[in-house]
Amino acid sequence: QEAHAAQMEQTFIAIKPDGVQRGLISEIISRFERKGFKLVAIKVVVPSKEHAQKHYHDLKERPFFNGLCDFLSSGPVVAMVWEGEGVIKYGRKLIGATDPQKSEPGTIRGDLAVAIGGNVIHGSDGPETAKDEINLWFKPEELVSYTSNAEKWIY
Ligand code: PPS
Repeated sequence: QEAHAAQMEQTFIAIKPDGVQRGLISEIISRFERKGFKLVAIKVVVPSKEHAQKHYHDLKERPFFNGLCDFLSSGPVVAMVWEGEGVIKYGRKLIGATDPQKSEPGTIRGDLAVAIGGNVIHGSDGPETAKDEINLWFKPEELVSYTSNAEKWIY
C-alpha cells in the first residue's frame, strides 16, 4: 500500500459549459470513477474571462484563444481533481483526442462529441500543468485526502 502511495498523482479535469448544458456530468464522472480513480475535489463555477485566460495562458498566441476563453467563461464548469496511479496520462486517454472527429469510440470525446468547439472536457496534459491548473482552480483546503474502501481491491 505504502509503495503505491508514492506513485499517486493528481490531475485537473473540467467539464466545460457544453458538457454541463448537455447533461453529461454524471456520464463523465462515472467513467473516471469506475476506472478506479478517486475524486478528491469538485465544484461548479462560472469562471471569469480572466480566469479562463489564465487557464489557457499557453495558448494565447493561437487564433482561437479569445473564443476559447469566452466559451469556457460562458457558463457553469464542473472543476475536479482526480487522483490515482497514472491518472494524468490515462485521464487523457479516457478523454480522447482534442478533435472529436479524430478521437476513438470508447473515449469521452469519441462517444459524446462531434466538433472541436464542443469537446465537452478538459484534462491536464502533464505533471507540471496538472500542478498549475489544480492551484489555479482550487485552494489547498478544497482537496480532501482519504482512503476509499475500494483501494485495496484496485491497487
Ligand atoms: S496543442 O497545444 O497544440 O496541443 O493544442 P491542443 O491540445 O490540441 O488544444 C489545446 C486546447 O485548445 C482547444 N482548441 C480549440 N478550441 C477551439 N477551436 C479550435 N480550433 C481549437 N483547437 C484547439 C482544445 O480543445 C484544447 O482545449 P482543452 O480545454 O485543453 O481541451
